[in-house]
Amino acid sequence: MGNIIWITGAGSGIGKALALAYNKDNNTIILSGRKESQLNEVAAILKSSYVLPLDVTDELIIQNAVKQVDSKFGKVDILINNAGVSQRALVSETNNEVGRQLMEVNFFGSIHLTKAVLPLMQKSNAGSIVAMSSAAGKFGFPLRSYYAASKHALHGWYEALGLELKDTNIHVMIVCPGRIKTNISKNALIGNGEVHAEMDPGQESGISVEKCASAILRGIRNKKHEIYIGGSEVLMIYFKRYAPWLFRFIAKRVSAK
Ligand SMILES: NC(=O)c1ccc[n+]([C@@H]2O[C@H](COP(=O)([O-])OP(=O)(O)OC[C@H]3O[C@@H](n4cnc5c(N)ncnc54)[C@H](OP(=O)(O)O)[C@@H]3O)[C@@H](O)[C@H]2O)c1
Repeated sequence: MGNIIWITGAGSGIGKALALAYNKDNNTIILSGRKESQLNEVAAILKSSYVLPLDVTDELIIQNAVKQVDSKFGKVDILINNAGVSQRALVSETNNEVGRQLMEVNFFGSIHLTKAVLPLMQKSNAGSIVAMSSAAGKFGFPLRSYYAASKHALHGWYEALGLELKDTNIHVMIVCPGRIKTNISKNALIGNGEVHAEMDPGQESGISVEKCASAILRGIRNKKHEIYIGGSEVLMIYFKRYAPWLFRFIAKRVSAK
């Protein structure tokens, strides 16, 4: 049997590109997300796949999905927690419920699935776990308060997990993309929970999903712990770390779309 690779948010954007990039070497790709029709479209172009629709915010569904994967494949070699939703609204405009929903998908959805898959990896003492953060997981940015908070939270949790697993063969990696050309801004939530439905200019000028996927595959292959992917916007991560004043100088002047 080849590798079993489980990707959430696999019906679109970066998740779909990851599924296509892993479509080789006897790999079987488990495709998860809420929209079954999109997952089926991706499955139709893959050599070996298994469509497993789920909502990452539903803990019971996650438990059942992991049982299903265990009985069908008996292992997960790579888990990519890619499902996520962004935000385009000021703090003052964002309902608390919407903020909570962003945390549920981006943070709790990711960690609950990881926690449920972990025993399978521990059984074979092997595997890679990937958490999809963002450049907004390294610094805050206007209109993305809860999104940035949810992505920052991933860093604390996954870093702790990676250290707890230091003496095992289970690898944990956090991915921080800058701007990748997907529909993430269209699918982002505004303050009342409706979708933003607009392609941001920054998103439109982002790097391709194919480039992003191949950088993630490279990171997994080389057992990296944290990777940054994108164009010049990724420099802001380094400014924030080494010259916080420069980060603020630039961030205050960037149009927050
Ligand atoms: N594009 C960028 O510039 C960028 C930058 C930094 C980080 N990221 C991160 O990259 C990841 C992928 O985003 P993308 O750019 O590819 O945008 P996207 O096309 O909107 O993909 C998001 C995916 O998440 C899935 N999803 C959302 N809510 C879900 C839920 N409750 N349960 C299960 N799946 C859910 C969606 O599928 P369904 O609607 O079918 O559920 C969709 O396939 C996200 O975590 C995002 O935060 C993207």
